[in-house]
Amino acid sequence: MKIAFFSAQAYEKPFFEHTATAYPHIKIDYFSQSLNQKTAVLANGYDSVCVFVNDDINAQVIAHLASNNITTVLLRCAGFNNVDLTAAKAHNIKVLRVPAYSPEAVAEHCIALMLTLSRKTHKAYNRVREDNFDLNGLLGFNLHNKTVGIIGCGKIGLALCNILNGFGAKVLVSDPYALAGNYTLCDLNTLLRQSDIISLHCPVNEHTHHIINDEAFSKMKPGVMLINTSRGALVDSKACIQALKSKKLAYLGLDVYEQESELFFKNHSDEILQDDVFSRLVSFKNVLITGHQGFFTQEALSEIANITLRNAQAVKNNQPLINQV
Ligand code: NAI
Repeated sequence: MKIAFFSAQAYEKPFFEHTATAYPHIKIDYFSQSLNQKTAVLANGYDSVCVFVNDDINAQVIAHLASNNITTVLLRCAGFNNVDLTAAKAHNIKVLRVPAYSPEAVAEHCIALMLTLSRKTHKAYNRVREDNFDLNGLLGFNLHNKTVGIIGCGKIGLALCNILNGFGAKVLVSDPYALAGNYTLCDLNTLLRQSDIISLHCPVNEHTHHIINDEAFSKMKPGVMLINTSRGALVDSKACIQALKSKKLAYLGLDVYEQESELFFKNHSDEILQDDVFSRLVSFKNVLITGHQGFFTQEALSEIANITLRNAQAVKNNQPLINQV
């Protein structure tokens, strides 16, 4: 099986090359370009494409892949909102993903965002480097006894819930499919009204697109913290800006952003950013943005490589496709 590996980054190649030694019949060529209509031609002559979160596998790309006998899309991530599944099905293209590689990696990143925002360690780091030991402006708050609302309690939401229970926080969960657990189940409105911190862990779909909008902010407590490590389109960024300006939203931690495909995973430090909404978000002192690195641990990269190549092997050997979308 020949795999065209799109959006390849230097940090992931060693993990795939190491894992691939156990799969002598799989050959991988790495392309730094993202997969989209313009670059789909690079996949000609391959059996599969391997893609990540910001590759755009729309109906035209699927049609191109199908017409070049490419049978498989191997997602090396959990989310699949960037693949036109209807088109893939119509062209008989298999789509496989890595449903879970390290929910703890993302959950721990949420905690990093929460603690950095609440204890202002990013500001303290800079102050101490300038020999400034003034504590004014660094006043934080405890997670202990705070109410944390988790919207979407699947693998990552549950891992976060387990950590938060260790902090002594009260955890509320809104998830239409969640069973009882070590949290209090409630509806979305109750969660929005009662939470001191809200963290998003549901997928993006027609029910959850901009689930955090002006109306949602109007229901929240003044001084609330919002964390989004799930998908950018869950949050209306312009509503966030208004909520930050009115001080309703006192802390915002983002690892994802609705227009991130133009920005993330690349170095734009020599350019003038054209995204005014993003630039405004970055300008707030109480906003912390990371560039989709929640998954980015050694353990997770190793697991992503293992499961992706196992998925490829299963396709090649006509074995059951347990990770087919
Ligand atoms: P999962 O599928 O295990 O859990 C998602 C949960 O959301 C499920 O329990 C489901 O019942 C719930 N849900 C569905 N519709 C809902 C709604 N309308 N309201 C509330 N809950 C709803 O997914 P997992 O693995 O926990 O991933 C969660 C999100 O994190 C995904 O969007 C994924 O793309 C994102 N993610 C982000 C990463 C990062 O690096 N920042 C890395 C990996 C995943």
